[in-house]
Amino acid sequence: MRAAIEAARAGLNVAVVTKIYPVRSHSVAAQGGINAALKETDSWEAHMFDTIKGSDYLGDQDAIEALCKEAPSDIMELERMGAIFSRDAHGHIAQRPFGGAGYPRTCYLADRTGHSLLHVMFEQLMKHGIYVYDEWHVVKLVAEDNISKGVIAIELSTGKLHRLHSKATIIATGGYGRVYKTTTNALSSTGDGMALALNAGVDLMDMEFVQFHPTVLPRTGILMTEGARGEGGFLLNSKGERFMEKYAPKVKELASRDVVSRAEQTEIEEGRGVNGCVLLDLRHLGAKKINERLSQIKDLAINFSGVNPIEEPVPVKPGAHYSMGGIATDNDGGTKVTGLFAAGEAACVSVHGANRLGGNSLLETIVFGRRAGLKAAQFCKDAKLYPFPDRFLKDASQEVAVIYERENGESIFKIRNEMNDAMEAHCGIFRDRDRLTKGYDKIKELKERFKKVSLTDKNDNYNNELLHIFEVGQMLDISEAILVGAINRQESRGSHYRRDFPKRDDENWLKHTLIYKDGEEFKIRYRDVRVTKFKPEERKY
Ligand code: FUM
Repeated sequence: MRAAIEAARAGLNVAVVTKIYPVRSHSVAAQGGINAALKETDSWEAHMFDTIKGSDYLGDQDAIEALCKEAPSDIMELERMGAIFSRDAHGHIAQRPFGGAGYPRTCYLADRTGHSLLHVMFEQLMKHGIYVYDEWHVVKLVAEDNISKGVIAIELSTGKLHRLHSKATIIATGGYGRVYKTTTNALSSTGDGMALALNAGVDLMDMEFVQFHPTVLPRTGILMTEGARGEGGFLLNSKGERFMEKYAPKVKELASRDVVSRAEQTEIEEGRGVNGCVLLDLRHLGAKKINERLSQIKDLAINFSGVNPIEEPVPVKPGAHYSMGGIATDNDGGTKVTGLFAAGEAACVSVHGANRLGGNSLLETIVFGRRAGLKAAQFCKDAKLYPFPDRFLKDASQEVAVIYERENGESIFKIRNEMNDAMEAHCGIFRDRDRLTKGYDKIKELKERFKKVSLTDKNDNYNNELLHIFEVGQMLDISEAILVGAINRQESRGSHYRRDFPKRDDENWLKHTLIYKDGEEFKIRYRDVRVTKFKPEERKY
């Protein structure tokens, strides 16, 4: 939405195509906040350093500089648009400590920051008269001779396929958390844009880096914000020990997410967990603070785990949360296909490298959404509208017809569940060649079976089974890309921990993985990391 607003401001005719209603976008679930160096005692350089260190030095430093430098003015602009933030005692925007940050620079609205920002974006969308094709799912990005022509989308209420012809397309479809079984992500986070881009000839970058958030509720995967630890919450093991003292003596629970998630997993695997979890203890914060600043997670813990954090510690575990990798873009969202842009979690600029800091993802959607929208608008002013050949729509209709006609095939839900189990078991926090290869073989088997899926519901209107077929097909491609990247990268960096290669290896692996498709085969090439101000050094928390 931020990209669309910027393109509309530049005078363009813009439409948003979205498979869900815009205010149901997964950004609504971003709880803890958005980072910016607002205070005189903080600086964008310090924010930049923390982000680079958090990324385990894989982030591109020129992109990170843009993110951190432009953050304060973007926050001020959000406030002018009407975004509500919590306030400190002086009436300024309140900022809380977050993991991996050397300064309390996460601006927040209690634990509902994404909710606040998403609704402001939607108001701005309305204000600018941007047309929204809601509940339209994109099934194909159409590119010919490396030029983007638009998309083909299915209108979910009717099942009708449409051609949407444009000079430029910006992919902003978020992440792929639903590839995993335990995830904080909404049902809609199925990596659609990344898979569509891969199949349109665009590279995916650094897909092996999957972020596991340290505090999610078991069974549902619902997020318990990092803000809970930012406000002073402890993590305890079954012996009642604050185990992070051992893994990150200086900052403890506020180490970066990769470090905290690995520590939790180690405690659980070594027998110091509590029914497959550790405990998030907030009791010492007191009812007033919890009710004021963490009211949403209090309600979520009560409703989904039956635990009131004011009275008892909450069982939590790591869960898939965020995709550091995505569509390879330049610093203005441009991809290698002319007229095709990407922004937000779907893109990999790369500002997060091997591990993202909490509070930098909402920021990325705003800073790089704005930049991509502006760049796409400038592009459109000079670009011509290329014809959109009919055969693309005919081919897409044919592919859908084949699915409708097939009888007694594989169940898409069975394939989805097996994919979730395989990714959880074989491509989680701790990895090694053997496990990853098992995961890869399973995904290849599922891809074969996917070719035989059929529908039990043959209706056209709101056919969710058909939508699942599109989504699972895309997630199988995403899973393969993650596994190929993970098998290939023989080192441990950020969220990618290989037990068979437990050290970071800058000599051989300070480089980005680019994955592309050659027919059905996934291939790899590399790109150097752009290092400007901060030379890679060992991370200590
Ligand atoms: O923990 C959280 O509130 C999540 C924030 C983020 O992923 O940026």
